[in-house]
Amino acid sequence: MSTIPLQSRLPKTYRIVDIKQETEMVRTYTFDGSLGARPGQFVMVWLPGVDEVPMSVAFDDGAHTKITFFAVGDMTEELAKASVGDLVGLRGPFGTCYQWEPGQHIVLVAGGYGAAPMYFVAKETVGHGCTLEVIVGARGKEHLLYVEELESLPHVSLHIATNDGSVGYKGYNVDILEKLLASCPVPQGPKRKGAQDCDPIDRVFACGPEIMLKRVSEITAAHKVPSQLSLERYMKCGYGLCGNCVVDPLGIRLCVEGPVVKNDLCVKIEEFGTYHRDGMGKKQYFEKK
Ligand SMILES: Cc1cc2nc3c(=O)[nH]c(=O)nc-3n(C[C@H](O)[C@H](O)[C@H](O)COP(=O)(O)OP(=O)(O)OC[C@H]3O[C@@H](n4cnc5c(N)ncnc54)[C@H](O)[C@@H]3O)c2cc1C
Ligand code: FES
Repeated sequence: MSTIPLQSRLPKTYRIVDIKQETEMVRTYTFDGSLGARPGQFVMVWLPGVDEVPMSVAFDDGAHTKITFFAVGDMTEELAKASVGDLVGLRGPFGTCYQWEPGQHIVLVAGGYGAAPMYFVAKETVGHGCTLEVIVGARGKEHLLYVEELESLPHVSLHIATNDGSVGYKGYNVDILEKLLASCPVPQGPKRKGAQDCDPIDRVFACGPEIMLKRVSEITAAHKVPSQLSLERYMKCGYGLCGNCVVDPLGIRLCVEGPVVKNDLCVKIEEFGTYHRDGMGKKQYFEKK
């Protein structure tokens, strides 16, 4: 039996009240209602006659819900044709959310559309007195997302990484994470050799491509800093019924026990960073860079 109420499992239509073209391929839709989502949770987005796909909640303030998406295939390209006033079906919210304690010093690592849920986390955590190091990565300047929104928040130090060096650090966002963790002491432990006098980092949250998440997992484990990572698998029902999002060898369903998973558990998922399964259950290997 699912613990998710029936009303959340069934789609309800919401009207698009605002559209922001973030980049050439990325759009943010604001809907006229709240689903009561927490940062890290996702919704199933339904276009009747087309498809239904999972999307992270980019924001939910109790009055409006936002999603930020890449137009990459049949469903998302069709979704990108919608206009203000159109209706879209949403189910949820589903899955786990990021967890923190008030006043903590947290590092957020965002890649691709992961910047959207990370902004949602940032907005909520600074409201709880947390201080943040936010690392946003992209291929180039024109692909960066949510930079202005993050800059507008108090108690946020923004670090930008671009592969082509068009702005910020030239390289990967995980390189910056490694440097930050090496230069700040761990919460409970001896001061590291060469560590500066910065506040200890209590935890790391990450959302982005799986190869990036795998590095975050390795780096945070090496530095003994607890981390929470948002893992994605092909999802159909979204609430634990179909088994499509089960991962080897644990058999946990990432729509229920995830998408946000603590690193202690991520390291036990053998397929993490290696392969995922498509809608037919066939293994698809991640490209190693
Ligand atoms: C928990 C979760 C949160 C996500 N959040 C976002 C988000 O905030 N913004 C965003 O742009 N994308 C997000 N995605 C990915 C998004 O679901 C896919 O981009 C979308 O399904 C593509 O559908 P399509 O029909 O346009 O493309 P297709 O051509 O059908 O697929 C393109 C690729 O998208 C993936 N995909 C397709 N269908 C699904 C599905 N039902 N479940 C999972 N992956 C699928 C596959 O890897 C596929 O190769 C999220 C996925 C998950 C699992
Ligand atoms: S998507 Fe059906 S069990 Fe997870």
